[in-house]
Amino acid sequence: MKYDNLQGKHIVLGVTGGIAAYKSAVLVRLLVKSGAEVQVIMTPNACEFITPLTLSTLSGKPVITEFFNHRTGEWHSHVDLGVWADAMIVAPATASTIAKMATGVADNMLVTSYLSSRAPVFVAPAMDYDMMRHPSTLNNLSLLASRGNIIIEPAVGELASHLVGKGRMEEPENIVAHVDAFFATRGDLKGRRVLITAGPTVERIDPVRYISNFSSGKMGFALAAECASRGARVTLVTGPVTLATPQAVDRVDVLTALEMHDAVMSRCAGSDIIILCAAVADYRAASTSKTKIKRQDETITLQLVANPDIAGHVGQEKHEGQLLVGFALETDNEMENALAKMKRKNLDVIVLNSLRNPDAGFQKDTNVVSIIDSDGTTHNHDTMTKREVAAVIVNHLVNRYLQ
Ligand code: C5P
Repeated sequence: MKYDNLQGKHIVLGVTGGIAAYKSAVLVRLLVKSGAEVQVIMTPNACEFITPLTLSTLSGKPVITEFFNHRTGEWHSHVDLGVWADAMIVAPATASTIAKMATGVADNMLVTSYLSSRAPVFVAPAMDYDMMRHPSTLNNLSLLASRGNIIIEPAVGELASHLVGKGRMEEPENIVAHVDAFFATRGDLKGRRVLITAGPTVERIDPVRYISNFSSGKMGFALAAECASRGARVTLVTGPVTLATPQAVDRVDVLTALEMHDAVMSRCAGSDIIILCAAVADYRAASTSKTKIKRQDETITLQLVANPDIAGHVGQEKHEGQLLVGFALETDNEMENALAKMKRKNLDVIVLNSLRNPDAGFQKDTNVVSIIDSDGTTHNHDTMTKREVAAVIVNHLVNRYLQ
């Protein structure tokens, strides 16, 4: 396979101490063969699995393993490396290094360089079955993904322990393909202004209670990270979520549907692409009690009034050249409802995700989507991480509408 987009690219390859480190030699070779300049950084434990000599010979550069060169006293500058890098790949990424990256521990040259780098970071986990599915590891990966790092999911297969399951580092060819695809699309949204909504809205009932939904905001944040990394100027209007703002994204925090409506309507005219991913509450309390509502009778009636349909309003005001993308999460008659929604709201594209699929939906890091154009053309996709889904959606918009 030929990778066309790596010529002259500066890649920092971080190798950590897992048995999959033996595959790093192939990874370095493929990157170098594709024209990339590779600077390898190894953690002390990685050196137990594969020698720095192997990787420095293949990369044509001395491998960095420590903060200092003990022989010469020379200091390796993690800051310079961070500036030099066009991309950083951590492969294999052990549970320990992933945890350090997630929490900001900087006790070796690799994780210190990670903290100093502004370049996009690809993480290819490799570890044993039980470590891979441990809640700590899953949480740390989820956190890294939410900050815009690109997780290259490990494959399922036989592991070094002879257990069979998820945890095998993705093959070097596929890791290089990910990075190559990333550079292929870099800059294809340059100069475009993108407005994205994400997360739930919160509708107050009284000073302590509210109506909301289970939206985590992960899909919208992944879209924001993807668009920003492709050169767009991104504004992300988000309801309350616990996610970090992706790099180079302008974030506007709102609470209620009315606030989200105002934030979107005042910005939509100046946007080229509008992606409405938020799970907006359809109704809010007709009136908000100033004091906490006391427990009284066995039943209580709460009167609700409809919130504005933000997508519908943007659809009405949409002008020539603007692209409007909505999402639909349906529990029944999925396709029919999604198509009706697209028409009613004057959307150009609707992304359908079904709650019926266990890999899709609220709080998850993965999603299963169908992308539907207004002429009914439908592209069904398999389970992917939300960041991968974001890339697929943006690829579709670029290829079909922005060429
Ligand atoms: O909630 P519903 O399934 O109708 O959402 C479909 C699309 O409309 C989504 O893109 C959602 O973000 C958007 N929407 C909105 N304002 C609402 C309700 C939904 O922008 N009040």
